Amino acid sequence: MQNMYKLKIAVIIWMMLISDAVQSQNPGDQGISSSDNFKIEALLRTMTIDEKVGQLSLFISGWDVTGPTLNNNYKKLIKEGKVGAIFNAYTVDYVRELQKMALDESRLKIPLIFGYDVIHGHRTIFPIPLGQACSWDLAAIEKSERIAAQEATAEGLNWTFAPMVDITRDPRWGRVDEGAGEDTWLDCAIAQARVKGFQGTDLAANNTLLACAKHFAAYGAPQAGRDYNTVDMSQLSLYEWYLPPYKACVDAGVGSVMTSFNEIAGVPSTSNKWLLTDLLRNSWGFKGFVVTDFTAINELIPHGVATDLKEAAKLALNAGVDMDMQGSAYLNSLADLYNGKKITMKQLDDAVRVVLQAKFKLGLFDDPYRYCNKERQEKELMTPESQSFARKFVAQSCVLLKNQKQTLPIPATVRTIALIGPLGDSKKDMLGNWSAAGESEKCVTLLEGIKNRVNKNVSVIYEKGCNANDRDKSSFGNALKAASSADYVILALGEEGGMSGEASSRSNIDLPGVQNELAEIIINTGKPVAVVLFNGRPLTITKLNTLAPAILESWFGGTQAGNGIADVLLGDVNPSGKLTMTFPRNEGQIPIFYNAKNTGRPYNPADPGAKYVSRYLDCSNDPLFPFGYGLSYTSFTYSNLATTVEGSKINVTVQVTNSGNRDGEEVVQLYIRDKVGSVTRPLKELKGFQKVLITKGEIKTIEFNLTTADLAFYHPDLKKYWEPGEFVVYVGTNSAETISKSISVK
Ligand code: NOJ
Repeated sequence: MQNMYKLKIAVIIWMMLISDAVQSQNPGDQGISSSDNFKIEALLRTMTIDEKVGQLSLFISGWDVTGPTLNNNYKKLIKEGKVGAIFNAYTVDYVRELQKMALDESRLKIPLIFGYDVIHGHRTIFPIPLGQACSWDLAAIEKSERIAAQEATAEGLNWTFAPMVDITRDPRWGRVDEGAGEDTWLDCAIAQARVKGFQGTDLAANNTLLACAKHFAAYGAPQAGRDYNTVDMSQLSLYEWYLPPYKACVDAGVGSVMTSFNEIAGVPSTSNKWLLTDLLRNSWGFKGFVVTDFTAINELIPHGVATDLKEAAKLALNAGVDMDMQGSAYLNSLADLYNGKKITMKQLDDAVRVVLQAKFKLGLFDDPYRYCNKERQEKELMTPESQSFARKFVAQSCVLLKNQKQTLPIPATVRTIALIGPLGDSKKDMLGNWSAAGESEKCVTLLEGIKNRVNKNVSVIYEKGCNANDRDKSSFGNALKAASSADYVILALGEEGGMSGEASSRSNIDLPGVQNELAEIIINTGKPVAVVLFNGRPLTITKLNTLAPAILESWFGGTQAGNGIADVLLGDVNPSGKLTMTFPRNEGQIPIFYNAKNTGRPYNPADPGAKYVSRYLDCSNDPLFPFGYGLSYTSFTYSNLATTVEGSKINVTVQVTNSGNRDGEEVVQLYIRDKVGSVTRPLKELKGFQKVLITKGEIKTIEFNLTTADLAFYHPDLKKYWEPGEFVVYVGTNSAETISKSISVK
């Protein structure tokens, strides 16, 4: 089969070559051999306009609905050579069936790319990306994407719409769950780990996925936290905080970039030539292809920059969009636009070329069925190794928010545990949003996780207490009874899995429904109570925090959620996760993030009565939990911060002592403040971290090596450079609790 295909392609290409000798001219051909480029140019010469437009068209198969429209014609279009890629179709049989249509029935037999939102795992689902980020473990993040790629490619896929690297400072926005949080420096590091995990070192291997950095650009900053809303910010903020993670992906060799739905400064991303061509291609040197988000070209009409689909398609192509996701805008308009001399053949060829290059890079022209191996599919999904890694990753992603009187871990003397709450035994909610081919029935709930872990002499009772998101209190009585009969209570509270993610913004981000009331009556029993939170965003749990003695943030942990959380609750794993997004006290504080500016009238806690300062009358400026925050079952103390500056090198050392009574991992965080600049600088900026295991009683010296390049920032002319002067170096356990030292850098 494979050899027959090679033969057919070879014959087509050979015929083209002898009929029309072509010169290899290879714009944007990094990673492509000259012989492959030769073939691509030959193909371009032989393709009709319709076939070219076909390569620029991506359609949904309908196996998963991830947008507002479906196209039932995709099979017919594949046979006609009018489809370049398909998404939301997987499994070896189905991918083979569709690929075969392209190969057997379309004139040029160009293989299809198969894409899917493999966001935090494919079959084995890992914690939501925001939770993963809280592990501050780049190697584990990369490994999770490697496993995701292994599983996805074993089911026919070769393209993922990930990583999502949008900076997020507004937890009302439902998609904060999909990113790495609010910090640009950390997001860049995580973005690169993800690209590496998906793409590996060889895209042509049959277990690597082409990655897609999204959503370009600044989709994470919609006004009022409402999904798809307008984005408007200063150029400096865009350059300094929002653009670097996409650039980090490009630097890591990401194969594709997805445009965002939003506008930036009045121009929608999908028609933004400055963004897609001047910046992405010309300035950053991006060599892959640009795909729109779902029907984003069509949405140029309601955005109000195009009167009809044809104009929208022209704007998108002119801007630098190569592939149209699901909108048929290119399919219905590009040929007419070309015939009417509104676009050129060169524009079409440039777009088709990068799509064909991706297909060559993926090895699809060598063997279009290379991802369709039944044996692999049988063997490589949900392996015991993946499950055991997933379990550890859940535990690493948990963040201990509060632990009064060492309520956690659950003491070994406990004999009856009452697990109470709507998230305690809900398989459907464990996966969180964007769970690809993950199956909720295979998820381990917290109830199952605890039961798996405790001995036979511990009894575990479960009462739901209430639903996550309605006002029904009729089960409070049963919950109270269960709590009263137990000697330890775990409250499993939070959001339903679907309350975060795309199109899931919330204006009130406290616990929904009657969960605070449930918590209050249970905690008032006086039993030891630990709350486990399941949620896709920071919540305003100010009330819960005053009531509960212990709170563990578990996010949505995925397939192994219950086992991983149980490992933390019962003390097998000492929690080490740290928040990568600030938890506000209430929605009025949003946007709230650690790397804010000082302002000209900063609030001074030593003078709380001062009137004309930047503050609220009814709430503190401080968040409930700051960026970088997370407790451990042990304690760490920081001392002996030392700095040396020699030429362009800045060396920082600090001693961290495990002053508690068990071994633990600590994320040692390094921040700087540039005290005076020609542009105002944040109060603190993360510039490094180290996650280290420190044994009980041990003192570890942690060293950071910065250079003056780390002090650089964008200026009004959009040049990035550092300015000599006074800086403060902070090292600590989170962004608010640090020790510091001033340095002078000349
Ligand atoms: C819309 C989402 O914004 C995007 O992230 C996703 O990749 C596509 N739908 C495809 O499912």
